[in-house]
Amino acid sequence: MKLGIFDSGLGGLLITKAVQERFPDLDILYLGDTLHLPYGNRSAEAIYAYTLRCMEYMFAHNCRMIIIACNTASATALRRLQQTYLPKHYPDRRILGVIVPTIEHAADSGYKNIGVIGTNYTVSTNVYEEELKKIDPQTRIILRKTPLLVPLIENEGQPWIDDVLRHYIDPLVTQNIEALILGCTHYAYLKKNIKKHFSFDIIAQDEIIPEKLELYFKNHPEIYNDIGREGRTEFQVTDLTENYERSAQEIYGRALELKHVEI
Ligand code: DGL
Repeated sequence: MKLGIFDSGLGGLLITKAVQERFPDLDILYLGDTLHLPYGNRSAEAIYAYTLRCMEYMFAHNCRMIIIACNTASATALRRLQQTYLPKHYPDRRILGVIVPTIEHAADSGYKNIGVIGTNYTVSTNVYEEELKKIDPQTRIILRKTPLLVPLIENEGQPWIDDVLRHYIDPLVTQNIEALILGCTHYAYLKKNIKKHFSFDIIAQDEIIPEKLELYFKNHPEIYNDIGREGRTEFQVTDLTENYERSAQEIYGRALELKHVEI
């Protein structure tokens, strides 16, 4: 069987790359729903419906467990999938998200003033604030919608990124944040740009998820042992353009064989 990693587009490649570095022999199926990207500006029902179809596809293609490496889909669809879809259709399989592990990491680090940037939808759900309150009610969280970042990342928008970042993040700096959660999978790609302009710490999911996954596998050896160890990774997308191929190469750091699949 395989470990599934799902994202609305190509940002999840950064998490995949980091997971591969930690587990080089694990068989992985990556699926990017590029046909419906960006999820972040859509309605909850649309995000749930798209995510559900992708989960069905990935389970039908032998995924033992799926990491939803997309904050927008994690914020919208994860709980419903775990509570209603999985028990009915795939009671032995698992779907994990990225938001709770990120919040746990932030709370463990002891910050008292944290900024979060994310898509319109992720920020409007308030999920980061709610989850953090459960773990550490003293910590203050300041959220900011940053909807232009994903389109810039997915469409070779590097020349404009620094200006857009400053526009979005300067107001968080005036609120004295000690750390910034990159609350969207794609934003790990912007770490260098952010470090160039700002001195707060960066909390990035590509650095958190592999460690959390290792812990999860330790606690669930039955899942880990079911996943193949041939080191095969398949990269699949629901829409394929030359632009996506170029972006994938830029994000991943080498050319990837992206396969177009219809779901
Ligand atoms: N990857 C998604 C996330 O982590 C954002 C991209 C999108 O809007 O689809 O929120």
